[in-house]
Amino acid sequence: MKESQKRAIIIGTSTGIGRALAKKLSAEGYAVGLTGRFPEKMKELQQELAGESFVRVIDALDLRHATHELSNMIMEMGGVDILVINAGVLHPNPELRWDLEEETIRVNAMAFAGIANLAVRYFLQKNGGCIVGISSVAGHRGSGRSPAYNASKAFMMNYMEGLRQKLSTTPIKVVDVRPGFVDTAMIRGRKGLFGVVSPEKAADDIFRAIQKGKRIVYVPSWWAAVMGVFKRIPESLYHWGYWRYIAWDTKAQKS
Ligand SMILES: NC(=O)c1ccc[n+]([C@@H]2O[C@H](COP(=O)([O-])OP(=O)(O)OC[C@H]3O[C@@H](n4cnc5c(N)ncnc54)[C@H](OP(=O)(O)O)[C@@H]3O)[C@@H](O)[C@H]2O)c1
Repeated sequence: MKESQKRAIIIGTSTGIGRALAKKLSAEGYAVGLTGRFPEKMKELQQELAGESFVRVIDALDLRHATHELSNMIMEMGGVDILVINAGVLHPNPELRWDLEEETIRVNAMAFAGIANLAVRYFLQKNGGCIVGISSVAGHRGSGRSPAYNASKAFMMNYMEGLRQKLSTTPIKVVDVRPGFVDTAMIRGRKGLFGVVSPEKAADDIFRAIQKGKRIVYVPSWWAAVMGVFKRIPESLYHWGYWRYIAWDTKAQKS
């Protein structure tokens, strides 16, 4: 591979936003590292990519193995310029089952931080690079339906702010991507969603944000205004709205 070749790795690429972003980066001339749990799906994706790509099987639940494989992939690709930490799980968890809460925290928060840590060390040595974390608008408030999911996204947002502060005197960029609703398996079948965008639109917005060197990007951008208000609503009013929504949603699911 040529020294001048641009390189990107995406954590979690079999489906949804990660898959669309792999296609976008490849079309933009990047050699792309695909990682995820399912080799067949990634091999399938490889066939659809315009340029060179690499595959590694990683499971974020096994962080030690995941970071080991990621280091190997960086070596195999001859380096990396952009590392996108996209892997995430959302379990609606009305019974507050601990196994579901734990998986969410381990994938969305623990693995995120472990992989970001590796990326920071690598990019410091290289003296440049870009870390992209896919958080969510959900990180702005708690959720009675899936407490671990919203809390894990708040963790990501806060962690990335910390990294930006730590790295502010270096050329390393940290981009916090906060999608609203994106039409992927994660939200499919849920009723009452608004402003849903395609994974391809999300990938375009993410790529543009990376190119412009943005710190935080909402997908689509109008979510910034919505969240500016939403995060200031008093907790009592927020709970009132939440219970009204749950009552409406329960009825809608039955119909
Ligand atoms: N869809 C939305 O409305 C929305 C809104 C806000 C934020 N987000 C965030 O966007 C990111 C991508 O989600 P999506 O919407 O594209 O949903 P998705 O299609 O369900 O994709 C989830 C991704 O996470 C990866 N993943 C899950 N568990 C993993 C594990 N244990 N190890 C490695 N990878 C794992 C999956 O990779 P493999 O299947 O390849 O293993 C897959 O690529 C998530 O972080 C999500 O929280 C989504």
